Amino acid sequence: MRHVVEWRVMAERRGGEKLAEFQKRLLDWFRANRRDLPWRRTRNPYRVWISEIMLQQTRTAAVLPYFRRFFRAFPSLKALARARGDAVLRAWAGLGYYSRARNLHRAARIIVREHGGRFPETLDDALALPGVGDYTARAVLSIAYGAPLAVLDGNVARVIARREAIEGDPRAPGCWKKLQDIADRWLATDAPGDWNQAVMELGATICTPRRPRCGACPVRDGCRALRLGLVDRLPERRVKPTTVRLRIAAAVLLDERGRTLLVRSSGPAKENAPERPDDLGSIFSRMWHFPALVVASGYSRSDLERHLRAEYGVDGARWQALGKLRHTVTFREITIEPWLALTDSLPRDGGRAVALDHVPRMAVSSASRKIAIAALAELGRDE
Ligand code: ADE
Repeated sequence: MRHVVEWRVMAERRGGEKLAEFQKRLLDWFRANRRDLPWRRTRNPYRVWISEIMLQQTRTAAVLPYFRRFFRAFPSLKALARARGDAVLRAWAGLGYYSRARNLHRAARIIVREHGGRFPETLDDALALPGVGDYTARAVLSIAYGAPLAVLDGNVARVIARREAIEGDPRAPGCWKKLQDIADRWLATDAPGDWNQAVMELGATICTPRRPRCGACPVRDGCRALRLGLVDRLPERRVKPTTVRLRIAAAVLLDERGRTLLVRSSGPAKENAPERPDDLGSIFSRMWHFPALVVASGYSRSDLERHLRAEYGVDGARWQALGKLRHTVTFREITIEPWLALTDSLPRDGGRAVALDHVPRMAVSSASRKIAIAALAELGRDE
């Protein structure tokens, strides 16, 4: 019995030493090789929070100019909370996934009201903020405050799945939980912020989805996928949702003063309800957009005319087809057929009249911007 206990203690000690060695190698590599990014020059919780939100779903290089512009517009969390909603959306325009900007703004106001203007320090308080999920909360608290919390995102999941040879779709709930447990176990508790960023950086630059550079990996010793020849097969690929093709007709009405009609589609009945492919609100990122209609393949212009008359009580005259536009949003491939139509007057209710040449500079989705630019080109007023 005594021998068994001793053996266990020794095995645990060996495991601990191996973990310490792994942590040291990866941290040393990160500290020597980290990319110099503006959000890494600060531990300011506001800046860390904004950068982590921006980096979700958007590549680092694309985030850089927005990061600088955002802090010029809103230098502090209090300034963000005081700002108008459309100013925040304008600073975000082009980054996509606009619910992120709306949630940031709402969260900033809550932080000012309930936390004295400083990003909260506990996991529960952070998770209660709109737009802050497990990943964001753990990233901000570990990087800004040194809280011992391990992050799990796509990059981290890939590193873990390979190093520990974990099979299954990482995003499946059981598998994600298993990966989080391993991430927690790996965490270097004396440097949680650096550790989290080191694992993410390894996934972003070396342990990449395709053609990982195992020869340059600072922690290739101990990688089970490498030893078993499974690097190309792990993590297992997710089954992609099938792409839906849609056709949309959109009307660019134009009155004598050069104004057009923009409308807004209401959101889904319930937050987190499954998204319908033909939900116009989602297609136009829940922002102001030209009146539009999903049409079947046998579409005719009269559908759009009827829609405008029934919904907004407007008639167009001298209809002119603008070139077809292609637009992709998440799982949809959309063909937009925009029409330019002159009108005597725009409706007072149900929408908003704005100068057409102002639309490309407004906080609108990229689909709306493309439509406006096509109409302006047709009118000889290139942007
Ligand atoms: N991806 C998202 N946030 C990151 C960070 N702080 N470091 C490295 N990769 C990241």
